[in-house]
Amino acid sequence: MDSLAVLHASQLITLAGPKRPRVGTEMSELAVIRDGGMLIREGKIDIVSSSEEVAKNAGDAEVVDAGGRVVLPGFVDAHTHLVFAGNRLNDFERRARGETYAQIAKAGGGIWSTVEKTRAATGEELFNQAQTYAEWFLRCGTTTIEAKSGYGLRVEDELKILRVMQRLNKQTPLEIVPTFLGAHAVPRKMDADKYTDVVIDEMLPRIASEKLAEFCDVFCERGYFTIEQSRRILTAARKLGLRLRIHADQLSDSGGAQLAGELKATTADHLEKTDEQGIAAMKSAGVQPVLLPGSVYALGSTAYPRAREMIDTGLAVVLATDFNPGSSPTPSMPMILSLACTQMKMSPAEAITASTINAAHSLNREGEPVRLWRASRNRGSP
Ligand code: NIG
Ligand code: FE
Repeated sequence: MDSLAVLHASQLITLAGPKRPRVGTEMSELAVIRDGGMLIREGKIDIVSSSEEVAKNAGDAEVVDAGGRVVLPGFVDAHTHLVFAGNRLNDFERRARGETYAQIAKAGGGIWSTVEKTRAATGEELFNQAQTYAEWFLRCGTTTIEAKSGYGLRVEDELKILRVMQRLNKQTPLEIVPTFLGAHAVPRKMDADKYTDVVIDEMLPRIASEKLAEFCDVFCERGYFTIEQSRRILTAARKLGLRLRIHADQLSDSGGAQLAGELKATTADHLEKTDEQGIAAMKSAGVQPVLLPGSVYALGSTAYPRAREMIDTGLAVVLATDFNPGSSPTPSMPMILSLACTQMKMSPAEAITASTINAAHSLNREGEPVRLWRASRNRGSP
């Protein structure tokens, strides 16, 4: 593979620093090189330095002049619901008229309406829709996403969704890290404890043995899964070698962040309603909070999570889109960074750290070369 030299970035943001998630004031340290350049060889970044230094070593590399733009690492979006059928425009209309997420779900919209459409769709149809979304992510500057199942809620349908991710991961420059979220909602007419048993006894063993997911997640929330059910599912998942993430304290403070601490989950996500005790529990267990301001915004709420308090406490904050048809239909990390700064009072530097290096750590990808090279080559533009 030939080489590529990028020269004359007004600011080249390297995020060089300790090999661990960044906390506190470290989140503001981007390790910027002014008039920076980089040399990419064999698909990996080989030299990062001043433009002058890179030009000296460039040899016959193809040269791209960044023309004074800012160059930064690709975004890592650590929380998405990539694979689903249909859309939820009806929910949006109802919310615009004042109904809440919970009311809409009860009246036949919400997650369940997407489950019905996703069950009815073939793997091929789901693949085609997800492929379009993968293009959207790439166009927004995202190079890696985490993607959750959770719109199947039956063994074969959850497997169908995870297989779509597996296939798409091989066919797109976007890297897709799969998470099993069988506990996204309780299927209609089913008892929650019985469904919890299905997740533990039937779904998890298949998913682990076919290596279809790296993480397991649970929607721990009133009307979805209780603390006890969430604990059972996540404990079983960990025994099978999966790492843990939790949808915690989104609509109510149900103790999800504390459960994340107790189980030493990799992340606790949402956290709109998390209190000081939840923050302290995450801190002592090293749990990374994944904040999703896109869903707060799209649900028409103003109750953003307490990002400043979390940063000041020393948590390695992550930002993500929560891309899904209902509560956050945006694939745009730039939009999320904007919301983080305007609504959660994070600085732009903190938001960049949260959406790149810290997000990569939360997906166990901190040492991975991104697929930037393939992405830029395939798309014909740097
Ligand atoms: O993260 N909270 C649960 N899951 C999604 C919403 C999914 C949906 O509404 O379809 C979320 O916001
Ligand atoms: Fe989510």
